[in-house]
Amino acid sequence: MRFLALLLVLLVQTALAHDPSPAEAAETARHAFVDQCHAQQALMPPLLTAIRNQDLSAAKTAYVAARPPYEQIETLALIFPELDAAIDARPYAYHTGEDDPLWAGFHLLERAIYRDQRLQNVYQNALALNDSVNTLCLFLENAVDVYSPSAIMAGSIALAFEVPAKKVASEEEAWSELSLMIFRNNWRGIWSQVEPFLHTPKVRNETRLRVTRVYQQLQRVYNMIDPENDFFTNKGGARVYSTIPVSERKDIIEYGYKFATALEQVRDDLGAELGEEEEGEEDEQVSRNEKQYMRDAVVVGLSSFVGFCEEQQRTLDMLCSILGERNLTSARFAYAKARPEYERIEVMAADFPDLDANIDARPYAYSRGELDNEWKGFHEVERALYRDDDIDRAIRSADVLKGDVDALCETLRAGINGEGTFSAKRTFEGMITLAYEVPAKKISSEEETWSDLSVMIFRENLKGIWTLLVPFLDRLPAHNMKRLKMAYRMARDTLELVVDRYNDWDTGLNFMPYSKVPVWERKRISDAFYEMAHALVEARETMFG
Ligand SMILES: *[C@@H]1O[C@H](CO)[C@@H](O)[C@H](O)[C@H]1NC(C)=O
Ligand SMILES: *[C@@H]1O[C@H](CO)[C@@H](O)[C@H](O)[C@H]1NC(C)=O
Ligand SMILES: *[C@@H]1O[C@H](CO)[C@@H](O)[C@H](O)[C@H]1NC(C)=O
Repeated sequence: MRFLALLLVLLVQTALAHDPSPAEAAETARHAFVDQCHAQQALMPPLLTAIRNQDLSAAKTAYVAARPPYEQIETLALIFPELDAAIDARPYAYHTGEDDPLWAGFHLLERAIYRDQRLQNVYQNALALNDSVNTLCLFLENAVDVYSPSAIMAGSIALAFEVPAKKVASEEEAWSELSLMIFRNNWRGIWSQVEPFLHTPKVRNETRLRVTRVYQQLQRVYNMIDPENDFFTNKGGARVYSTIPVSERKDIIEYGYKFATALEQVRDDLGAELGEEEEGEEDEQVSRNEKQYMRDAVVVGLSSFVGFCEEQQRTLDMLCSILGERNLTSARFAYAKARPEYERIEVMAADFPDLDANIDARPYAYSRGELDNEWKGFHEVERALYRDDDIDRAIRSADVLKGDVDALCETLRAGINGEGTFSAKRTFEGMITLAYEVPAKKISSEEETWSDLSVMIFRENLKGIWTLLVPFLDRLPAHNMKRLKMAYRMARDTLELVVDRYNDWDTGLNFMPYSKVPVWERKRISDAFYEMAHALVEARETMFG
């Protein structure tokens, strides 16, 4: 089998010497990943054995070694989404995060090995991962039909944008700190898929030269940041990601984007169409017969939010006037001061998704990341002030932001008068979603990457949830009320007394930089928000059945 496969590769490669067709290039690309998958299979037994023997140090070694091949194969995850989820999903992909019984794969093992340092209960998960890898190899070996040139280009471009737009900012391997290893393997995987196409007749010489040059520059930038681990090493391991300053991450981001846009050029030369995904909109039925007290509770919450929103308008005005002084230090201070209110209001974001995106989206929410014309809001100001030191850009962005915040305040006021989709049920959905989102996503992903202000986000998210919850508390049975109060207390204590103890809870702006919060404290925040989420789910069941 193996021999025949090799022979086929050789034959295809020989054929490639003479102007390969896109179909031949796709076959070469597929074989590159079949090989990677076999490499992945070979790396699994040491990991399984170490976990079975509960040998933590062997498990770490085997885990690091076992990560690279899949991070290459992942380039084409869109043609095997279920297997990708079984192998590589992180908790935020699931509604209930780490709690979700469907969550599986490498990151579950990563959590056990690096964060919890307990291997007692994960051997079954490791076996399941082994099975998923085996299934993936079978799939790739037979995937001739689905492995089309357009799927290859679409997957390559999507991942090439995802690295600078999302992964660089979000501690991809949050628990093991191996994010750099992920990036280099993502890029190598992309290259193995795209390179065969560079020699097809439709790709212009100019395009081929450009993408090849950018890929080489990317390797150089990588090797400068991570000199101990060459870009092309097949070993696992990488410089500890949290020690890499924002200024160095900036280069990786810049060349990551250059690589992605060069790939778009290849796609355009090939003329392959990118299949756009249509997102189905969730259209929740809002009951018109909600009890009056539910309606009243919603109005109480909304009124508080209108107050927050007006405060947000004031702090933004202040930011804009301070930006006019062109002093970066005071501008950053004004930025931090202008951030908290929206992070409370965000609880209800599902009731104003477009404004939420305008105000608070991060680049990864857009297909072209930071290069996307649609991206704007707080994080654009954050980038200008903390990463790029670009006051002019900050002034322009803050000005646009003010308009969106004005619209938000109007929307909230209209909600008090019964307009929009605000309801008790949706309020609970919003609280639950955010309570899960903090531990499932925000904790591991440096929510405010450039300013390092994630701790502020957690504090304000919690305040927002509590503001909305209080009006409902009296109506809940004692056990629900008690559990919710305790959950809130625990989350608040974790932040107020442990993580951010040098900062005043109500108004302090002297936040603990998130990059200095150790993994075990992050775990406590995570546990506390999960408990809050569970308590909210229980309360929702009591109220709405
Ligand atoms: C893991 O998969 C390999 C095939 O790649 C198989 O030979 C092996 O038996 C599996 N390991 C376990 C413990 O099931
Ligand atoms: C493209 O490059 C090849 C050599 O790689 C050369 O033979 C060919 O003339 C070039 N085509 C153009 C249009 O420059
Ligand atoms: C900028 O503001 C800070 C404090 O807000 C102040 O200490 C510093 O002197 C100012 N710099 C300039 C150049 O005015």
